[in-house]
Amino acid sequence: MTNGIQPIRGMNDVLPAEIGLWQHLEGALRELVATYGYEEIRVPIVEHTELFKRSIGEFTDIVEKEMYTFTDQGGDSLTLRPETTAGIARAAISNGLLRGQKHKLWCIGPMFRHERPQKGRYRQFHQFDVEALGYEGPDVDAELIVMLARLWRMLGLTRVKLQLNSLGTPAARALYREQLVAYFRGHEAALDTDSRRRLGGNPLRILDSKNPDMQAIIAGAPLIVDHLDLESRAHFETLQAALRAAGIDFVVNPRLVRGLDYYSRTVFEWTTDALGAQDAVCSGGRYDGLIAQLGGEATPAIGFAMGIERVVELLRLANVVPVVRAPDVYLVTQGERAVSAGLALAEQLRDQLPQRRVAFGLGGGNFKAQFRRADRSGARLALVLGDSELERGVIAIKHLRGEANQIECPVAEVSARLEAALKE
Ligand code: HAM
Repeated sequence: MTNGIQPIRGMNDVLPAEIGLWQHLEGALRELVATYGYEEIRVPIVEHTELFKRSIGEFTDIVEKEMYTFTDQGGDSLTLRPETTAGIARAAISNGLLRGQKHKLWCIGPMFRHERPQKGRYRQFHQFDVEALGYEGPDVDAELIVMLARLWRMLGLTRVKLQLNSLGTPAARALYREQLVAYFRGHEAALDTDSRRRLGGNPLRILDSKNPDMQAIIAGAPLIVDHLDLESRAHFETLQAALRAAGIDFVVNPRLVRGLDYYSRTVFEWTTDALGAQDAVCSGGRYDGLIAQLGGEATPAIGFAMGIERVVELLRLANVVPVVRAPDVYLVTQGERAVSAGLALAEQLRDQLPQRRVAFGLGGGNFKAQFRRADRSGARLALVLGDSELERGVIAIKHLRGEANQIECPVAEVSARLEAALKE
């Protein structure tokens, strides 16, 4: 395309040929969360910029450099959501959903981050997000993880592994942060530019650095698990015991800190070795302080989000073939009168056989071309209506997939005959 309008880098079209796996995954997800009693919530794609600054945190990569922020005609600073936990927390507050009540919610949709696009990392991507508001856990922490393990089983995905950590309470984390800063200040000369910058704002993120030169220093850093408050430690241990009892494999990764500031206590991430660098397929954790921090009444909460593109890619690699439902019947017509009679007949069949899919051969053309299209549609039967059939008040039923002969029947009997032929 030379003069045409280009797509935006990192934002993809999902074409009909690819949509089967998306629908397969989305169907499984909807079924799964319904089983566990979660309800759907839909929140806007755009929120006040302030919401993301106050929840995700000023010194995170997302807020510092990845947000699509703009000023609208009214002069408000708005941002395309980079994630939806903040929006759901905001919705719970603004709609008065809390007041001591609990909510189990899920949401699906596009998110936007101005990251460097590469395989598995996009600027518009989709998340399936689940949030449990008002639950102190750790039973809910365990149930969310058990639910995800069930999903991987349902989908036939085996190359996913669970990592867990606890970040403690904000107070315990503040003490740990001081120790970490002191440690890294002692090694400041050896820190890379990114880590030096993070030392002032978000020192925990240094632990996440992928720079090989930083690994030795990071390996010697104090660990948050050694600085947990007693309650967080008990919470974490109970969670681990529940997971063991449920037969869920996991590793405790004391350097798992997550890239968003709102977390406390449990954090977790499912990663895979099948996707290269973008290996996180589903991540989440507790955010017990967020709702109060946004002006709502103190409400413990936990959730996770899954990258749909990444899970779809895992399904593709695992050779999962989605069931794409073809039309059952394809109606072929010839002649002007037959077209209008055929359109009416197709509508009548859709009324009479609501479980069946009826495709009409739009655009006409000769019989041969229409049969080719009928065949390509995957339909099992073709209905043939030409001027001669019309005159005689009959219609032909032709099997597209087998040896059975073409038959003719009176138009009035067609729905019964079709149903019988489809059951053969
Ligand atoms: P997150 O780790 O930033 O967490 O994103 C969750 C998941 O979204 C990642 O594990 C990954 O699968 C996918 N993802 C993130 N960025 C991209 C991207 N640029 N391209 C493709 N996929 C991506 C959150 O967003 C939190 N809101 C999760 C959460 C919910 N925590 C509590 N509740």
